[in-house]
Amino acid sequence: MIRLENVGLIFGQGADTIAALKNISLTVQPGDFITIIGSNGAGKTTLYNAISGSCIPTSGRIFLQQATASNPAGNPASNPPERRAERRAVRDITREAEFKRARYIGRIFQNPLLGTAGKMTLADNMMICHKKGYKGLRISLTKSMREHFREELRILGMGMENRLDDNVELFSGGQRQALTLLMTVMSRPNLLLLDEHTAALDPHNAEIIMDLTLRFAKDFHLTVMMITHNMNQALQAGNRLLMMDAGEIILDIDAAEKAQLTTRDIIQRFRDIKKQELVNDEMLLNNE
Ligand SMILES: Nc1ncnc2c1ncn2[C@@H]1O[C@H](COP(=O)(O)OP(=O)(O)OP(=O)(O)O)[C@@H](O)[C@H]1O
Ligand SMILES: [Mg+2]
Repeated sequence: MIRLENVGLIFGQGADTIAALKNISLTVQPGDFITIIGSNGAGKTTLYNAISGSCIPTSGRIFLQQATASNPAGNPASNPPERRAERRAVRDITREAEFKRARYIGRIFQNPLLGTAGKMTLADNMMICHKKGYKGLRISLTKSMREHFREELRILGMGMENRLDDNVELFSGGQRQALTLLMTVMSRPNLLLLDEHTAALDPHNAEIIMDLTLRFAKDFHLTVMMITHNMNQALQAGNRLLMMDAGEIILDIDAAEKAQLTTRDIIQRFRDIKKQELVNDEMLLNNE
């Protein structure tokens, strides 16, 4: 799906440089749900910035493998004709503009106000999302489209289907994050990047959003990367866990190994690798 080859990203110049990403190589397979943990400043958000195009790497390359007619899931090919199709579908996107990547990469941030336009109605917000990919085409909000939006909103179970004409600023943080998640998923991204998307919510809403995330990932066969400071969440969700530190991926744990691990094991692994204690109040507090 996405492959990073020796990606490095340096901020600043001269004596003040920060190597936010150091030689990162990573292959994300279609259908993967990868959880990512790491201390503050480890480079997690910068990794997303490189993948989504909001920062261009200083070195290395990023490739996208999109689904083709002969390979609809974007799976690695197994026989020669499919392999030829695969080669056609792999693209170097290292320098592709962010707005172009936004058509196939969905990204959700910690701040629940960022994913929706507060001063616009719920229907108009959904309309913008619906129009994504239909550049230049004027689509008006028809009765059947309103019904279609209502149906989608019913999935959230929050009663928002009856409030299509309310401005989105009237909704709670949890409702807005659920809406952002729904709209992002409905635009069928090849890759969904979640950056601590439940961290700003109260525990009840955080749980609702996490449940929705897992349900959508399963129902829509999404490929997901999820940054979290909650080590329990990182262990429970997904099929692979990455731990970043100082711009590097220092742990890469598959589903089978993850199932055996506890948060204490992860802290110990960090100690063994880095020969120092894990200093991150938020991560440790969330996991005692
Ligand atoms: N635009 C920028 N200009 C300069 N330095 C930056 C920029 N963005 C990030 N950095 C630096 O790069 C390093 C990695 O930051 P990043 O935001 O990726 O960390 P993070 O792992 O997401 O941390 P957190 O858990 O606090 O969100 C930090 O040292 C940060 O200060
Ligand atoms: Mg971050």
